[in-house]
Amino acid sequence: MNKILIFVVAILFSSIALATTPIDQRMADYNPDGNLIFDAKRGEDLWNQKRMVDGKQRDCNACHGKDLTQPGEHVKSGKVIKPMAYSVNKERFTKLKKVKKWFKRNCKWTYGRECTTQEKGDLLKYLSQF
Ligand code: HEC
Repeated sequence: MNKILIFVVAILFSSIALATTPIDQRMADYNPDGNLIFDAKRGEDLWNQKRMVDGKQRDCNACHGKDLTQPGEHVKSGKVIKPMAYSVNKERFTKLKKVKKWFKRNCKWTYGRECTTQEKGDLLKYLSQF
């Protein structure tokens, strides 16, 4: 009887673990000790923050678009960028390497500097709502 109970509990827990999305896993990657608290509102403000870089106004939406469930368009090359929202694009945030690479590039391009770990977590928390 006890064994069955343990088995059922184990199944329940493993299904909870499976229910975490790639973006939850990426937030955990940026917060291995669990010391940071990521905030969606701060992430939203960052995402929408407009900065002047090289005399031009820049923000994350410049390429990813206002509606994250829709494709974006690269502001320089005009290339289509697949939707950022995980709800419509299951490839999103599945690879830490890719997330790191683009955070680095895009923070530099948009803000003129790299983002901090806290900022990346806040941005991911904001993006996890879509
Ligand atoms: C100049 C255009 C441009 C701007 C501005 C831009 N991005 Fe991106 N972003 C891209 C491209 C291109 C990709 C890679 C193609 C893809 O993933 O569809 C990408 C991918 C990403 C990814 C990887 C997602 C994944 O699936 O792993 C993240 C995270 C990201 N961007 C965050 C940001 C943030 C945060 C900002 C604002 C600071 C921003 N981007 C601004 C062009 C841009």
